[in-house]
This record gives sequence, C-alpha cells and structure tokens, in this order.
Amino acid sequence: MPDASFLSQKGSKAAQNPIRVDLKIYSEAMENLYHPKTNPSGTLPMNIAENQLCWEMLRERIQKVTREKNIPDWVANYTDSNGAPCFRKSTAEFLSQFLFHCPVDPDSLAFSVGATSVIEMTSFLLANPGDTAVIPAPSYPVYSGDIGNLPGVLRFDLQLPGGFKDSEYDFEISLLDQAKAEIESKGSQFRMLILTSPDNPTGKIYREDHLRKIASWCMDHQIHLVVNEIYGLSQIDITHPELQSDYPNPAPFVSFGKLMNELKSPFLHFWYSFSKDFGISGFRIGLLHSHNAALIQGYQNAGAGHCISNYTQWVMQEVLDDHAFLNSYFKEFKTLLTQAYITFTKGLKNLQIPFNPSRGSLFVWLDLSEFLEEKSESGEEKLWLDIYKKTSVLLTPSQGFGHQQRGWFRVVITSISPSEMEVALDRLKGFVEDQRGKSCR
Ligand SMILES: Cc1ncc(COP(=O)(O)O)c(C=O)c1O
Repeated sequence: MPDASFLSQKGSKAAQNPIRVDLKIYSEAMENLYHPKTNPSGTLPMNIAENQLCWEMLRERIQKVTREKNIPDWVANYTDSNGAPCFRKSTAEFLSQFLFHCPVDPDSLAFSVGATSVIEMTSFLLANPGDTAVIPAPSYPVYSGDIGNLPGVLRFDLQLPGGFKDSEYDFEISLLDQAKAEIESKGSQFRMLILTSPDNPTGKIYREDHLRKIASWCMDHQIHLVVNEIYGLSQIDITHPELQSDYPNPAPFVSFGKLMNELKSPFLHFWYSFSKDFGISGFRIGLLHSHNAALIQGYQNAGAGHCISNYTQWVMQEVLDDHAFLNSYFKEFKTLLTQAYITFTKGLKNLQIPFNPSRGSLFVWLDLSEFLEEKSESGEEKLWLDIYKKTSVLLTPSQGFGHQQRGWFRVVITSISPSEMEVALDRLKGFVEDQRGKSCR
C-alpha cells in the first residue's frame, strides 16, 4: 500500500480503495486468455460488463467514417462542454427513434466521459455531501464510488423482500417511506433514488405502471428519481420459443424517457451510455437527460473537465445518423444476446443451478449458495476464488452489490464468444459435479 499521508482526506481514501475488488485478478486473467489451440487451459473472464458480440460490425461502420470522410474543422476546437450541438442532435434523434419512442430535445442532454462521470456529475449537482441515494439491492457496486468519492453522497441499499425469481420489479411503495424515515433518523436526507433498468446484476426491468407509482412518490416528496437505462437496448427476445415459458405474463419494456416526456418534472432524470448496448466502453460516452433546465445549465458550467473528445463525438455522430445501420446492428445484437442467454441458461438448467430470469442486460444472476462452505461474505469470496482456481472461469465477486442473500453471483454472458461459452460451461459442469460428488462421499 503506497504512503497516502500527504494526500487530502478524500485522496487518502481513494488511494486505499480500488474501484472494484476483482481488478487485479482480472488483469492477471487477461494475460493468460483461453485459446483453443495455443492456450486451451487459459482463462475465461466473465466478470466485467463488456459486450463483444457485435464489435466487428460496429468497427467496420466506424472505419468507413474514418476512411471516407474528412475531419470537420469544429473537431479541432473547443465546443459546448455538454456536447457538440450536432452530436447532441444526432443522439436525441437516436434516443427518440430507438429507445424513448417520443420526441427528445437536444438541449435536454448533457454528455461526459461514460456513465461513471455522468453519475458523479449528477450526484454532485443534485445532492449535498452527507445526503443519501437509495438503490434497490442488489445493484452495481461501483455506484458507491461514483456517488461517494467526489460528491460525498451515501449509498442506502434498499432490501427487497422475496427471493430472485421474477424478471420484473414490483416492490411496495411503503418501502420508500420506511427508507426515508430510517435515513432521516440517522440525520441524513433521502435525496436521490437510483433505479437501473434492465438491472445490473439481475437483468430485471421496471414495469411502466410501477415506474409511474415510484415517480409519483418521488415528485410528491421532492426526491430526485434517476433511471439508468445503460442496458436499455440490451433486450433479450423473450418471445423466443426456448424462453417463453420462463416469462409468464411479461409486461413490455417502456423507457423512462417516455414517462419523463409526459410528466416533465424537475425531479425526474435519465442516464445512458454507449458502453454496453454499443459495446464501446473505451469510447467513454455517457449522457444525462433531464427536463430540469438548471441541472443541465449547472452541468454545462461545472462539467468542462469531463468533456468527451470532439473526435469521438464526430465519429459516433456519423454512425448515429445512419439509422439503417443502427436497425441492422440492434437486430443482430438482440439475436446474439438472446442466443448467448439461451446457451448459458440451458447449461445452468442442465446443472440444476437456479438463476433469475433476465429481461435484458449482459448478465445472468445465479445461485451458487449450495457450494458455500459458510453463508457469509468471506464464504462467498472463498467460493469465487475456488471456482477461478479450479476452472479459470472468472465470475464477478459478490462484494459490494449490497444485498443480504448469500451465494448469488453475476456472470457476464457477452464478454466471451459462443464457442468459449461452451468451454466455460463445460468447466463449470466439472466444478459442480466435483463439489456434489464430494458432498455425497
Ligand atoms: C449500471 C451501470 N452504470 C454505469 C456503468 C459505467 O458505465 P461507463 O463505462 O459508461 O462509465 C456500468 C458499467 O458496468 C453499469 O453497469
């Protein structure tokens, strides 16, 4: 551990807390990747939310831009810190056509480098240090750092009753009243509610009627509701014959952007990023959409340090304007995502490992509690490492998701190829059979 004694309090805390606990092991795994011929015993990292399913298709389209077009002059200069006007216009049109299905005003958008930066900026502009953001558990561990490190906002993991078996959320609104009372009793303010739909890690979605009830409660209590739809177009085709029976009476996915357009409240906000649906986490494009003009103005005034490079904005604007390409891209992505989901969950069903049915996202949330030596966080860590040691398949560790049920793990189904998925399933099968064999002996 480096000496952090000459840093600020926040600097010293940052020096001691990695973004996530699995980064070191992930780097090691990336140095020893599986290859059928050259490294058949290599690693299969399924812990980081990367989407590699359609990169070849997108790469080709991006390279067409860089090959055939001259870089426009504006790209070399400073532009609006909320995003170049032409990029905001193209993105507004993209959101309108592909996700919201209603008009989107380019001036209601503000961009910065990935959802990470957008979450940090929004939290700092909406909440005071010491205020609390409520997040239904389990949820994305990195929210803690994004809202906490610089904005100083606290995370409250809202525990929901029931196990993991449904593909749609449906919690009682009274849970929000209870959370508010608990937070206030500790001297803090319930300032923001953060929902992720489709969710990370469960793949669940929020139904429109449920979202309306939650939005109405938030507006009544003057609490900011932010819906993170970073996986909004990572939808699994639940009408597929092999999946239908896992989804009795499914509600359609309706983007929160559509409700916001109707309600036009200063308390309702939306996050998106190109990292997941487009699989370009390295491009660092994230956005806030809000009808709160002061928030957008504050974002512009304070966000100059987080701007996306104009070169990135230009290239992606060219791609976003090609709706024929986007149509075929998202059609292909849905087919490949659904196929990956079917392959993986079929493997789990064969092994009789329970999982939560996903409506979207890049994940399967599965129950390995049967293999825990101890029902505790350290028991989970031991199992996670044991699986990696014996199979070289790296799952996401459970730490930081904020839920209380022990033994559930997240698997990313889009970070490896279909043939690698077969290898991963085969190795997991070996692990499961070995463990079950041991417990029978
Ligand atoms: C729910 C959620 N929000 C935000 C992020 C961060 O996204 P970005 O790479 O755009 O910063 C992730 C990445 O996994 C995520 O799952």
